Amino acid sequence: MTTVSDLPDLDELRREAAGCTRCELYEPATQTVFGEGPPSAWLMMVGEQPGDREDVEGAPFVGPAGRVLDKALERAGIDRSEVYVTNAVKHFRFERQGKRRIHKTPGVTHIRACRHWLDGELAAVRPAALATLGAVAGKALMGSGFAITKERGKVLEWEGHRLVPTVHPSSILRGPPEARDEALDALVADLRVAAGLRP
Ligand code: URA
Repeated sequence: MTTVSDLPDLDELRREAAGCTRCELYEPATQTVFGEGPPSAWLMMVGEQPGDREDVEGAPFVGPAGRVLDKALERAGIDRSEVYVTNAVKHFRFERQGKRRIHKTPGVTHIRACRHWLDGELAAVRPAALATLGAVAGKALMGSGFAITKERGKVLEWEGHRLVPTVHPSSILRGPPEARDEALDALVADLRVAAGLRP
């Protein structure tokens, strides 16, 4: 039987992850961006990887995509303080263009190397439900056959968890301005499906 003392401690995991060298992404990145939220969270949201702002601040979804996420969560009736927010990959992968650091999609090797930390977070938080944000996070968990357009907003079974995939909040910012309201409404609708899984 698993007792509470056998469960991994999130703070301990965070401390270990701060020194992670499981793949090469740690070298140019500022720091590991571990998940954040209460260990008692009923919902775990998994994004792709920290962005430029997150890399500097050391916290997930605190930049422009995070602001869209916060707005969508509020409209879906989910308080961010009840959610554990993390990423499939915990270092920012980027390319330098002059002074700018341009996001580069993480590869399978980065996702695999980082799975250790996601598994630790799952074991420590034991959320009632999961939500993946974007195609990369969806594929990271459910494999390369995962198709976001087909699966978004559905309740799927994944490794004993109920999981609702949705789009990445930054896709709304990247889309045409005239399509943003509709895209945000669709993200909110998906998050309402996740809200329906609250115990
Ligand atoms: N995009 C992500 O996938 N995660 C973050 O933390 C920020 C932006």
